[in-house]
Amino acid sequence: MSQVDIAGSIPAQIAAKGRIVTRAVEAFEFKKPVFVGDLVSCYADVIKTGKTSVSVKVDVYAQRITGGEIKTVLVTEAIIIYVAINDQGRPRIIQ
Ligand SMILES: CC(C)(COP(=O)(O)OP(=O)(O)OC[C@H]1O[C@@H](n2cnc3c(N)ncnc32)[C@H](O)[C@@H]1OP(=O)(O)O)[C@@H](O)C(=O)NCCC(=O)NCCS
Repeated sequence: MSQVDIAGSIPAQIAAKGRIVTRAVEAFEFKKPVFVGDLVSCYADVIKTGKTSVSVKVDVYAQRITGGEIKTVLVTEAIIIYVAINDQGRPRIIQ
């Protein structure tokens, strides 16, 4: 979950043009298991920008070799809300 949070924070910080904090996890679904040895990739996109908040959807894929074949499966989906903050840690309007 922390890796998904970190992945989501990257586009959120760019959209907010500065510091952000994680405010809420709107959705978090573990759809399939991740196994030792899987190559895990997180794809994060901004889905909404509000006055001070940025909502990011994160899709997590695991790539593994099964029976000599490479398979890529969607393992986790999450929607995380970040809030832009100022130097005092208070919400900051996103310009
Ligand atoms: C983030 C923080 C500064 C926000 O201050 P606040 O005065 O409580 O402001 P709110 O959270 O009510 O509102 C800020 C924005 O978040 C949005 N928001 C808050 N809770 C939300 C939720 N559950 N779902 C979706 N959006 C939410 C609000 O709609 C608002 O968005 P907008 O300005 O774009 O309309 C404060 O709550 C805080 O410091 N929280 C702790 C953060 C933290 O420590 N994170 C690390 C966790 S490991």
